[in-house]
Amino acid sequence: MNDANQPRRNRALRLGLIDGDGIGPEVVRAAGQVVDEALAAAGAPPVEWVPLLMGHRAIAEFGTPLPEQTLEELAGVDAWILGPHDNASYPAEHRVAPGGLIRKHFGLYANIRPARAFAGVRAAAPDIDLVIVRENSEGFYADRNMFAGSGEFRPTPDVAMSVGLVTRAACERIAHEAFRLAATRRKRVTIVHKANVLPLTMGLFRDVCREVGGAYPGIEVDDEHVDAAAAHLVRAAADYDVLVTENLFGDILSDLAGELSGSLGLAASLNCSATTAMAQAVHGAAPSLAGHNRANPAALQLSSAMLLRWLATRDAEGTLARAGERIERAVAATFEAGIATADLGGLASTGEFTEQVCARVHRR
Ligand code: IPM
Ligand code: MN
Repeated sequence: MNDANQPRRNRALRLGLIDGDGIGPEVVRAAGQVVDEALAAAGAPPVEWVPLLMGHRAIAEFGTPLPEQTLEELAGVDAWILGPHDNASYPAEHRVAPGGLIRKHFGLYANIRPARAFAGVRAAAPDIDLVIVRENSEGFYADRNMFAGSGEFRPTPDVAMSVGLVTRAACERIAHEAFRLAATRRKRVTIVHKANVLPLTMGLFRDVCREVGGAYPGIEVDDEHVDAAAAHLVRAAADYDVLVTENLFGDILSDLAGELSGSLGLAASLNCSATTAMAQAVHGAAPSLAGHNRANPAALQLSSAMLLRWLATRDAEGTLARAGERIERAVAATFEAGIATADLGGLASTGEFTEQVCARVHRR
């Protein structure tokens, strides 16, 4: 891992590139292409890509969906782009979610999931412009919330239980992420919880977020139950700026927000800690679309732009921030020109859409 305090003086970035399953290879390639193009346009040296295996190909070659080699290599790169995985189709003995394991392994405690409308894209919420800040390390995720064993268990064939984990430390660090982000935006944070039926776990989450908010006097705070927030999002998404919420609620609400912005195929996301980051789209592997060159690559392209902006915080010369901005502007301009993939009612293939974005990355 790089020294976070070391300003990067235009040395080449080393980025992991993990195809994953289903439409993964197509959208990961499309994301890598726009990153290459944007760095060239911003005057940064080319990326040194480090291709790594996860998913079905990893099972075939190494007998496991997330090989040790992949984790070891990731520890040595600056950051990485992760394709989707289709773990539901892995053989029963391998049915883990590699993306969850990677988040846990590297302590990527924050999942930043923006949803915004684009000119030229028909959206149920044409004025949506919000960011869901999802706690990414605990909550009700049985595969992530235990040191050993699982948070789910089944004492008899007819009884199953699961536990949720909420700690003050995790609430504090995710709340700080949300308030810091809101300070750069419209200065509003909504804490989303369900403290009426989970008063201890969700009450702790809500209360700690409120406490942390006390340190950010310029930010307006309110809180909502998750069911009310889901309805409110559909009715008036533009009311929201930053939402901070626990893992499961953030997972669900970010799919909803993505669709409200036009398509889940637009929904970008960054998983990060203070020292490491991973770009990963909100959508899954869409196996039925795989290999048809029809998937929307915008979500992973925009996730990669977020990755460059995150890396830019340790880049003395600002080229990475400019490259990230170029990708965002180029994707928006491509939509505005009426070019889109089938999920948005367009005719462009994955490759055609990407060519159009790459061409626009060079425009000022
Ligand atoms: C998500 C997914 C994940 C989760 C997978 C990809 C690990 O649903 O991030 O949206 O289970 O958290
Ligand atoms: Mn999800």
